[in-house]
Amino acid sequence: MTYPARVKIVEVGPRDGLQNEKEVVPTETKVELINRLAEAGLSMIEATSFVSPKWVPQMGDNSAVMGAIRRRPGVTYSVLTPNLQGFDGAVQAQADEVAIFGAASEAFSQKNINCSIAESLKRFEPVVSAASALEIPVRGYVSCVVGCPYAGTVDPQKTAEIAKILFDMGCYEVSLGDTIGVGNPDSIRRMIEACARVVPIEKLAGHYHDTYGMAIANVHASLEMGMATFDASIAGLGGCPYAKGASGNVATEDVVYLLHGLGIETGIDLAKLAAVGDWISSTINRPNGAKAGRALCLNAA
Ligand code: HMG
Ligand code: MG
Repeated sequence: MTYPARVKIVEVGPRDGLQNEKEVVPTETKVELINRLAEAGLSMIEATSFVSPKWVPQMGDNSAVMGAIRRRPGVTYSVLTPNLQGFDGAVQAQADEVAIFGAASEAFSQKNINCSIAESLKRFEPVVSAASALEIPVRGYVSCVVGCPYAGTVDPQKTAEIAKILFDMGCYEVSLGDTIGVGNPDSIRRMIEACARVVPIEKLAGHYHDTYGMAIANVHASLEMGMATFDASIAGLGGCPYAKGASGNVATEDVVYLLHGLGIETGIDLAKLAAVGDWISSTINRPNGAKAGRALCLNAA
């Protein structure tokens, strides 16, 4: 068993992390967070989403955020786009990359994006074509890859089927979302095995929420299978508004601590990253959800 030499981290804190915050986070705070993340060495930052502000009010300042960030060379600033309307907003805001998001569970698809899986895939097609015409890369998400808050256990074959459709449609990478963090290394392994039969593993990413404390174990199990891209959220911020009780993604600080400990390169400055996690947690008055982040900050003090 060999680990990948280098791992790419997709920082989703400004989007997945903040979308569920009850108090409105000021636009300037979001912008400052994105700028600080880029300075800490993150090269892929999901900055916001172009979804309906009636559905997710916290992301209603999407254009203002995109207009105010300092674009650091070499950093990709991506956004979620559920449909053409969102894509048009993303283009206006000069997003470097967009992401479409589907699900392996019908019930979740309805609650999250108000349509069936089949309808969502139809809606994504024109987004991918429009993006391709403008040479904007498209990332795909599958939610509920092992479990759904409404329908329970999800069959790995269903997840693999949606992952393949998104990949074949033109997504350069498909991120596998354990939306409610119910997976464990065994169920995650079985799910990745099914997906890797139809999409090359180097085109798959792990997106693990930490509701049951399994996310870092799931990252490790995925690394052992050769996965080399992971989504993570600074300070473990977040939760999905349409998955009650779900906690944030695995904390970026914890993932980077694990990777550096295993001798895997990330290009990220862990001390700077921990300081960003500490800053955003105190700024939005939330406990820091990154264990490694907290320990590093205590030791640095
Ligand atoms: P809908 O109500 O079915 O949309 O919502 P519609 O096309 O019927 O339009 C209704 C209204 O929404 C219209 O406005 C549209 O203009 C507006 P009105 O005429 O009533 O004033 N609208 C929009 N406004 C702004 N931007 C848009 C847009 N589209 C329509 N793009 C829709 C369908 C998909 C828009 C809605 O359900 C939605 O916005 N859902 C977003 C849900 C969301 O953001 N969830 C969280 C992100 S996904 C996630 O967290 C999971 C992930 O992290 C992976 C994992 O963990 O599993 C990615
Ligand atoms: Mg998520």
